[in-house]
Amino acid sequence: MKLSISLAASLVSGAYATIYYAGVAESGGEFGVWSPTSTPGTGLPGRFGVDYSFISEAAVDVYVDQNHVNLFRIAFLLERMCPLATGLGATFNETHFGYYKQAVDYVTKTKGAYAILDPHNYMRYNNPSSQPFSGSVIGNASDPTAATTAQFGAFWGELGRRFADNERVIFALMNEPHDMATSLVLANNQAAIDAIRAAGAKNLIIMPGNSWTGGHAWTEGSDPSSATMNKFVDPANNTAIDIHEYLDYDYSGGHLECVSDPKTNLDALTGWLKTNKLKAFITEFGGSNSTSCQKMVPEMLNYMAKNPEYIGWTAWAAGPFWGTNSPCCTNSTLLGSLEPGSKAGDGSPGLYETVWLKLMQPLVPKLLQWSGPASVSGGKLTAKA
Ligand SMILES: *[C@@H]1O[C@H](CO)[C@@H](O)[C@H](O)[C@H]1NC(C)=O
Ligand SMILES: *[C@@H]1O[C@H](CO)[C@@H](O)[C@H](O)[C@H]1NC(C)=O
Ligand SMILES: *[C@@H]1O[C@H](CO)[C@@H](O)[C@H](O)[C@H]1NC(C)=O
Ligand SMILES: *[C@@H]1O[C@H](CO)[C@@H](O)[C@H](O)[C@H]1NC(C)=O
Ligand SMILES: *[C@@H]1O[C@H](CO)[C@@H](O)[C@H](O)[C@H]1NC(C)=O
Repeated sequence: MKLSISLAASLVSGAYATIYYAGVAESGGEFGVWSPTSTPGTGLPGRFGVDYSFISEAAVDVYVDQNHVNLFRIAFLLERMCPLATGLGATFNETHFGYYKQAVDYVTKTKGAYAILDPHNYMRYNNPSSQPFSGSVIGNASDPTAATTAQFGAFWGELGRRFADNERVIFALMNEPHDMATSLVLANNQAAIDAIRAAGAKNLIIMPGNSWTGGHAWTEGSDPSSATMNKFVDPANNTAIDIHEYLDYDYSGGHLECVSDPKTNLDALTGWLKTNKLKAFITEFGGSNSTSCQKMVPEMLNYMAKNPEYIGWTAWAAGPFWGTNSPCCTNSTLLGSLEPGSKAGDGSPGLYETVWLKLMQPLVPKLLQWSGPASVSGGKLTAKA
């Protein structure tokens, strides 16, 4: 078993070697605000370590020290970083920021890995009680309660300034914008890029498109991301595209079976990336341990490995608060998560053992970037020291 796993990994990394960053999404910072009655303000500000949390340091240790991955995408909620009382912008809740920075510093400084900052807000701000649908769309000029594009820029300018001296930090502008004009997604992204660069931060930025930033949907519909998202300007030339792509029938990640194969669904996006000379990360994908996913999850990893447009990925999801729940692929009460030690509802091994160790770990490239700035052009590939 061990032998075949390392052999498969060396074949993949030796043959392609275009993935520089690989790891898991850390979901948990956005927890604790959902309300069955959509009551605004539920769970805000919330209790750190009780209602929400960012990472378990012990779990990050397992991923870096044993699994040799170098990338963690750490979710947080805008309404906690920028409380409603002061609004979206450059004024942070310093206590909350302190907790978040501690997680980012642990990943990047203590463990020497890379961290993606993930405002998990669907391009909305002011009411996360029924995320992903509640809250005002940022920059919606017809909604007097909406935060403005300029406020979104001010927020990213400040966050960027605070991490400008940490080259291992990657700025993901927003999780899954949806149901809005693609031109507004671009305008908000551009305001953030401008503010980040004006603050002197040269960090790698990854930017989403519309329609949940779904890879399969990139060129589809009447207002596709493909017609608009190549119009951004980054004076530092260090922006990549942030893609999500689930393998179940409706691309939601909500179902047990994997039926939407990566080649069919990503080739159009891959062509667009190539044409526009852009790189991409896939920061959400996943599957259960069903027979169909046992085949398709590895296909996804191999697809990214053999197309040089893809330079990094994080699987959905680890995180300290998932318990027996599944972040991916119902039946959500039964499967556990990618958090080491997580259990399924019946006490059997969770997705960390049944999906990460079995399906994903064998395809983690042996060589990844362990030093130097995160960059669209990658860095020096080495084995984990
Ligand atoms: C700031 O965050 C801390 C820690 O979560 C919390 O106790 C406090 O109430 C928050 N302040 C505001 C204004 O949200
Ligand atoms: C913008 O706000 C108006 C007024 O509240 C609303 O009718 C419209 O649906 C909003 N647009 C989006 C994209 O949410
Ligand atoms: C960005 O790319 C353009 C076009 O290739 C080049 O002229 C410019 O010098 C680059 N800027 C930086 C900061 O590398
Ligand atoms: C997942 O794996 C566990 C452990 O091997 C097994 O008991 C369970 O039936 C599997 N679940 C599915 C949906 O295949
Ligand atoms: C998961 O499956 C159990 C047992 O079949 C069922 O009671 C529960 O409602 C299901 N949960 C979801 C979220 O589908």
